[in-house]
Amino acid sequence: MHQPSSRLDNLSEYPIVSQTPLDVLGDNALDTQDFFVRNHFLAPKIDMAVWRLTVGKPGDYTQLYSYEDLLELPAHSLDVALECAGNSRSSVLPPCEGMLWGHGGVGCATWTGVSVRDILANTEDISEESEVLFLGDDEGRPHGTGPVERYGMSIPIEKVLNPDTILAYNMNGVALPEDHGYPIRLVVPGWYGMTSVKWVSEIRIVPRPHKGFYQDKYYVFVTDGPETYETNPRVDVIKVKSLITSVKRGQQIPSGKHVIEGKAWSGYGKITRVEFSPDNGRTWLPGEVDSSDSRYGWSAWKCVWNADVKGRYLIAVKATDVKGICQPELFDWNFRGFANNSIHTVPVEVV
Ligand code: MTE
Repeated sequence: MHQPSSRLDNLSEYPIVSQTPLDVLGDNALDTQDFFVRNHFLAPKIDMAVWRLTVGKPGDYTQLYSYEDLLELPAHSLDVALECAGNSRSSVLPPCEGMLWGHGGVGCATWTGVSVRDILANTEDISEESEVLFLGDDEGRPHGTGPVERYGMSIPIEKVLNPDTILAYNMNGVALPEDHGYPIRLVVPGWYGMTSVKWVSEIRIVPRPHKGFYQDKYYVFVTDGPETYETNPRVDVIKVKSLITSVKRGQQIPSGKHVIEGKAWSGYGKITRVEFSPDNGRTWLPGEVDSSDSRYGWSAWKCVWNADVKGRYLIAVKATDVKGICQPELFDWNFRGFANNSIHTVPVEVV
């Protein structure tokens, strides 16, 4: 249940799915209560008197941790932007399948927790091919059909052993709210949000990628056409993206000088350049990027626009990341509209 003062905009009530309005994304520090929520099933009811995290292989759980045990392990804090793979789906053409997110399925928070690497330190039989499966306590029938399953995702061992892959218990300095995964959630920096499993209570070392519905069938890139039964590529690293947050679609602004602002991020690391266009991409002006932001967080950007001539304008922004990758005018269409990082364009009137 959201705080009464939350500014989230609900896309679904049962289970809760809600997005952050664009102007709120422009806040210097996003409030936890304004951070988007994406639940596939109802949030689980957890009894902390008996709650334990189990780690190992099915039938051979070598380690059990209580919440207090986890709090005693070395703590690791980092700023990480999470973006839902379906974010910005409502602007995809031709239309694609799935919940119609505006641009508000993204947020950045400071997460504190334990490196998964530390938790796996005493676990035997981990090979380079192993995957580590994180299972949440929520369950249901995906899309209302098929067998009941728990929400779960496996992650390749190399990514899991990066010390920045953490089991977080705090979000912005306080215990995780229920909808963000209390008591603990996985945070996989740089990857789309679906792998940051909430309400984790079981970690299994498995020999191959998990066959759960969301990993194997849903969060994969598929195009249109007959079913091929091939393995479809998994959605993983967040593509470079930027948004204009200071001006709304259709807004009227007085002629004169304006500072246009927004946020930019990439799963590959820092944002190195942001450019602003006052004329639908015909010309681009260099923007200023806040370079203090962390490797996995988002960066605030701004650009001065001398909007001296009255009229109707399509203003746009594009970002480039540390790998030199720049946003495309149009992303690679796929059936569920995942990873839409097309250039954000906003129609405004100078009056
Ligand atoms: N973990 C569980 N257990 N159940 C879920 O439905 N949703 C995933 C991920 N982890 C989900 C989950 C998706 S699709 C996203 S985008 C992120 O959580 C959203 O995290 P948030 O709700 O904290 O913003």
